[in-house]
Amino acid sequence: ADSLRDHAAARGKFIGAALATSPLAGETAYRAIAGTEFNQITAENAMKWDATEPSQNQFSWSAADAIVNFATQNGQQVHGHTLVWHNQTPNWVQNLGADALRSAMRNHIAQVAGRYAANPAVVSWDVVNEVFDDSGNMRGSFWYQKLGDSYIADAFRAARAADPDARLCINDYNVEGVNAKSTAMYNLVKSLRAQNVPVDCVGLQSHLAIQYGFPGQVQQNMQRFADLGVEVRVTELDIRLQTPRDASKDAQQATYYTNMVNACLAVSRCSGITIWGFTDKYSWVPDTFPGQGAALIYDEGYNRKPAYTAVHDAL
Ligand code: XIL
Repeated sequence: ADSLRDHAAARGKFIGAALATSPLAGETAYRAIAGTEFNQITAENAMKWDATEPSQNQFSWSAADAIVNFATQNGQQVHGHTLVWHNQTPNWVQNLGADALRSAMRNHIAQVAGRYAANPAVVSWDVVNEVFDDSGNMRGSFWYQKLGDSYIADAFRAARAADPDARLCINDYNVEGVNAKSTAMYNLVKSLRAQNVPVDCVGLQSHLAIQYGFPGQVQQNMQRFADLGVEVRVTELDIRLQTPRDASKDAQQATYYTNMVNACLAVSRCSGITIWGFTDKYSWVPDTFPGQGAALIYDEGYNRKPAYTAVHDAL
């Protein structure tokens, strides 16, 4: 067999995609590619706090369950995303005082991670997401303002209690290469592990752009985390460009995809790569970065792009 997932499996890695609930329910081509090319999936939005606990202690599982059921039907693993984040978190959470916020966080983690703890498809969680700002200081989110950095260790301990077998990750962007922010991440992970906080894994989101260059020393950066004893994973890879696409931008993008796959292949503790979607028909990029797009490996008509071939051939 010749799918991305066959190639990845032969290398002992996963190849994942973030999936959106509505095309997954309604589009045959979307389901067919999602189910056959990837062996791990992440919910693009369905497991975030606003989706799972829109009001306090009122949990809503339909979208998250749809992702997990699809994975189960297709023999895929699920990476849970995300338990604690400053975005897509309801106002009721943000308005709590410190003590109530800490209890709500623990309860949310217990309920969400706990729901899937016995499910063999769900193998890992992003426990905390984007705790740093762009300079590598702690982000001044409502979490940090009310609880200080203690919420991070607390969240990992709650996640371990809820699902003792899941790999527990800390996830962020602009931490792919060696830089001030990834060094801050490195120091935090090292310090948490020295305190026996159950951090198993570091997620490198990898929202890249061809016009900014490929990050420096990605393999070395992955290796320094690996040397702390943690798993590394590429969690949200996409490589945007200034639209419209053309052959030369597609080729440069393909090279970046190759580079990222090669970095992961070179580090044995890099467990795999998840792409943040797969078709340019459904991508967060144009909505978030005006004038940019075409960041994924299939075009809007589900045709394979040079980036697909790059990932396929590198794996
Ligand atoms: C994005 C989704 O792709 C969008 O659909 C949503 O509107 C906003 O969030 N970092 C993350 C992801 O950890 O959860 C974000 O996903 C992209 C940036």
